Amino acid sequence: MDELFSSGKIRNLGVSNMDYHQIKLIEAYTGRKIIANQLELSLKKTDFVDSAIGFNNPHGKGLDFQLGTLEHCILNNISLQSWSPLARGIYSGAKLDKDAHQTILDTKNLVTRLAKKYAVSSDAVVLAWLMKHPAKINPVIGTTNPERIKMQCRLFVSL
Ligand SMILES: NC(=O)c1ccc[n+]([C@@H]2O[C@H](COP(=O)([O-])OP(=O)(O)OC[C@H]3O[C@@H](n4cnc5c(N)ncnc54)[C@H](OP(=O)(O)O)[C@@H]3O)[C@@H](O)[C@H]2O)c1
Repeated sequence: MDELFSSGKIRNLGVSNMDYHQIKLIEAYTGRKIIANQLELSLKKTDFVDSAIGFNNPHGKGLDFQLGTLEHCILNNISLQSWSPLARGIYSGAKLDKDAHQTILDTKNLVTRLAKKYAVSSDAVVLAWLMKHPAKINPVIGTTNPERIKMQCRLFVSL
């Protein structure tokens, strides 16, 4: 790691799919600060919200998100990046499986209604939900389609 930094090949360290214990361990061993953590955060993967609400509550049982990770990242200026922020378009236009769960259909309908109401794309509504979170989540969108990127950006100016 030191060689990568001294040779200029990398300037910063980021991690992916790590909880705050793992981040602290890496920082202690490398003596360097982690600046970003990329996690699956989306309307499909809402555990990062549900785990906080469900703490000390029967509804929180079985959730797959290490409580304290979001808070650690916020307090230590570790940028939170969301991978698959659009859940590959399942709420905004991608073809759904025949046996798609009712919650996916309900969420998709709500997204469609909001997109109509605010005259924006459904993609923009899905991304806006993420970006309204106080943790200042940065979505890492996966499309390489310029038109889709433009439509996804349209809401950002009014956030
Ligand atoms: N760190 C990790 O563990 C991890 C895991 C998974 C992914 N990633 C990274 O995260 C980035 C984003 O992941 P992702 O590609 O899953 O993100 P995403 O933005 O949620 O999904 C992109 C896919 O969804 C489709 N899509 C988006 N909006 C759509 C719509 N309205 N209608 C139909 N299709 C729509 C795109 O199709 P088009 O291509 O046709 O536009 C594309 O195939 C990638 O760079 C990936 O490498 C990281």
